[in-house]
Amino acid sequence: MNTIAICFVCLGNICRSPSAEAVMLHQVGKAKLADRIVVDSAGTGDWHIGHPPDERAQRAAKARGYDLSMLRGRQVRIEDFARFDLLIAMDDANAAALAKVCPAEYRDKIRLLMEFATRDDSRVVVDPYFGGDEGFERVLDQCEDACEGLLKALRTQLVA
Ligand code: 4NP
Repeated sequence: MNTIAICFVCLGNICRSPSAEAVMLHQVGKAKLADRIVVDSAGTGDWHIGHPPDERAQRAAKARGYDLSMLRGRQVRIEDFARFDLLIAMDDANAAALAKVCPAEYRDKIRLLMEFATRDDSRVVVDPYFGGDEGFERVLDQCEDACEGLLKALRTQLVA
């Protein structure tokens, strides 16, 4: 039985990637695949290391049944490229920042989350940090859509 490890990556690891982590964990649990799919998140920046997710992200997530309160910000580490099967970036800047430090052999592990979406055709998960509450709802809508597609893609890689 193989397992797959994925890490969602944004800039601060306090808004988008912790939201994606919680949404994916919820969907993985519902699919009874919690022992097969490892989920984590990290930021490319270092400003929010050790911080809990943004209050606005926590509030929006809680209203949909996702608890972000236990998560803490961390920065991507070089070991993450070996440890995870996929590093899934929220936007092009995050993907570029990852590619810049990624060992060449692991470059194809870097993907964009919205590649897996089926309802929303946006290329990126838009950064909600400097906007209003509606931005955090959009992040959750995008994560719910794309994580469904991601889970479907991962299922095909899980060997019985
Ligand atoms: P995130 O959002 O990358 O989705 O966690 C941000 C968090 C913090 C900052 C920018 C975006 N910041 O500038 O501190």
